[in-house]
Amino acid sequence: MRDIRSEFPALSDEVVYLDSGATSIKPRRVLDAVRDYYENFPANVHRGGYPWANRATELYERARKKVASLINAESEEVIFTKNATEGLNLAAHILDPLVGEGDRIIVSILEHHANFLPWMRLARRKGAEFSIARITAEGYLDLEDLERRMTPNTKVVAITMASNVLGTIPPLREVVKLARRVGAYVVLDGAQYLPHRRVDVKALGAHFISFSGHKAFAPMGTGILWGRAEILRDGSPLLVGGSMIRHVREDGYDLADSPNRYEAGTPNVGGVIGLGEAVDFILEVGYERMAEHEARLTEYLWEALADIPGLERYGPPPKDRTSLVAFNVAGVHPHDVAWYLGEMGIMVRSGGHCAHPLHAHLGIPYGQSVRASLSIFNTTEDVDRLVEGIRKVRKVFGV
Ligand SMILES: Cc1ncc(COP(=O)(O)O)c(C=O)c1O
Repeated sequence: MRDIRSEFPALSDEVVYLDSGATSIKPRRVLDAVRDYYENFPANVHRGGYPWANRATELYERARKKVASLINAESEEVIFTKNATEGLNLAAHILDPLVGEGDRIIVSILEHHANFLPWMRLARRKGAEFSIARITAEGYLDLEDLERRMTPNTKVVAITMASNVLGTIPPLREVVKLARRVGAYVVLDGAQYLPHRRVDVKALGAHFISFSGHKAFAPMGTGILWGRAEILRDGSPLLVGGSMIRHVREDGYDLADSPNRYEAGTPNVGGVIGLGEAVDFILEVGYERMAEHEARLTEYLWEALADIPGLERYGPPPKDRTSLVAFNVAGVHPHDVAWYLGEMGIMVRSGGHCAHPLHAHLGIPYGQSVRASLSIFNTTEDVDRLVEGIRKVRKVFGV
């Protein structure tokens, strides 16, 4: 682990970073790739024919190929966005004409607002039903409940690949199978999945999957929307303007093919080049090694938190879940827990985690929680410092 830790310049012995669920810190090689771009060929892409522009375009498009290969997709199915939220909004925009009055859109109560609001808004605007699938008492997606909701008028099923609060992973292949049986489009939110588990879009069989690049070791301002080529071929872009048209006349315009069609204006060239490097980092570390390390550490975290009096953990014990644990400390507001931990160099997130409906559904005090999320560079010492820190916070508050 020492080797991996040394690849992250932001880490030091003073720092315990337990907020990779919000965004990952970046390996040196990603930072170097971004710096190389800005220092040595800082030109725009898809425009100039001079050497800087050619190099920038080459590396930008190479990053697309790397992402496509990572998730087993075709290059034209990979659209660069600024985050997972933009990708999900774009998916909702492309599917907009297919949803009409009296149709149904299904999401789950596990969803982050990014995969909740675009669908709620679309349903409201079209006069469609907005149906929210439930979870089991343990916190897993309730497949039977989902199946009951899959009426023939269901047009879209939008489900997370991993909960950002409970860490649970829905049975994704079954979700897709059920949705396809009624002819619904399946949109998956892969923001919390890609940084931890291998994604194979062909094997999954969904129609869209949105990811955050910045949660998967890539620079801020990077995201990916994967969509099926046959849907992207005729879809309507969210933005119109430069670089996304074939030809513009006084009386109209012809759109370019995907992916350019969906990438209007100047993109985040340095960020995307960094994203390409992040893919190489993931492949070099290997998903197997990541999964094994994180599973062991999540188990350790789960057990260690159990020893703290008055601490309630949310979600099931770590099995089929990603490497995060949300919790509350009785008698202390989650923001106070996080603030005091921060003073000790321990960085965790507190709040509703953009999952207000889930917090309300679970009856979580304050509608908020503290969340510790782990990554490949975290160690058992990090967890020990968190536990020690929480004990100190309890002392400060006299609980
Ligand atoms: C499950 C899930 N979906 C979507 C998002 C939104 O991602 P982004 O901030 O990249 O838009 C997040 C971010 O926390 C998330 O955890």
